[in-house]
Amino acid sequence: ALVTSKEMFKKAYEGQYAVGAFNVNNMEIIQGIVEAAKEENAPLILQVSAGARKYAKPAYLKKLVEAAIEDTGLDVVLHLDHGENFEICKQCIDDGFTSVMIDGSKYSFEENIALTKKVVEYAHERGVVVEAELGRLAGIEDNVNVSEKDAIYTDPNQAVEFVERTGVDSLAIAIGTSHGAYKFKGEPKLDFERLEKITKLLPNFPLVLHGASTVIPEFVEACNKYGGNIPGAKGVPEDMLRRASKLGICKINIDTDLRLAMTAAIRKYLTENPEVFDPRKYLGEGRKAIKEMVRHKIKNVLGCSNKK
Ligand code: G3H
Ligand code: 13P
Ligand code: ZN
Ligand code: NA
Repeated sequence: ALVTSKEMFKKAYEGQYAVGAFNVNNMEIIQGIVEAAKEENAPLILQVSAGARKYAKPAYLKKLVEAAIEDTGLDVVLHLDHGENFEICKQCIDDGFTSVMIDGSKYSFEENIALTKKVVEYAHERGVVVEAELGRLAGIEDNVNVSEKDAIYTDPNQAVEFVERTGVDSLAIAIGTSHGAYKFKGEPKLDFERLEKITKLLPNFPLVLHGASTVIPEFVEACNKYGGNIPGAKGVPEDMLRRASKLGICKINIDTDLRLAMTAAIRKYLTENPEVFDPRKYLGEGRKAIKEMVRHKIKNVLGCSNKK
């Protein structure tokens, strides 16, 4: 069934693991992910961005997720990723999503609070949960000094005030991750001191880590080997994700690793099988690669195997 993340996060917090939130756009991606979650008996969040809704159309995405639930019998959270205004959150809530993100991180603290409160009020009246974001995820240069960090990363005391004043159900924080395939110029580094502080100040409150793909080197290499050109791509090492999962982080967002897994598999297949032009053949390879990658995350990184 479609469920909210309330129970999932409570268990993840207590069990010191994280639930994977995977971005979906099409049938093969959805199938690969749910098959992995099913085999690992894992909790699952499928999330949809505004871009994904535009690409696949809302009606298709909703039906594909419903079909995945019908086929697997899984409990799934259907979540709006990075809702940028009240209107898109409302649309998704009215469409049957069980969770929405209102991303007011680009606004001032007070404006972010006001916007988040408005979404929380509409969502909670309808049994839907809300994620908000405080702090900015933009990639920053190496060796940032303390005052630069304080300007960008989530302020622990503000996080407490934000959660209290908005009544939000979970909070995405900025501790050095960023979206996409180029997260760090030099050594990967996250501000664990800050995460520990936020976890301590907000006990039992679920935190969310965006921009958390590892940018798995094997997929980057395969893309480059089979005609791609993505040099210097770098993500969050798996050890850091394991460490974050043991703290307040209960939801880990993954999109880039899905894109890389699928693209690497399809590039390889088409290069090695130049005579093939049946999309089912190469999309099937993409789906298989997604499933294997997601199983690996669930089992070896997030720690949520058999936690359904
Ligand atoms: O946070 C961004 C997600 O990876 C979604 O990306 O807006 O290109 O669909 P998108
Ligand atoms: P990645 O780009 O690291 O996969 O992050 C995805 C994300 O945060 C979606 O909201
Ligand atoms: Zn994100
Ligand atoms: Na956790």
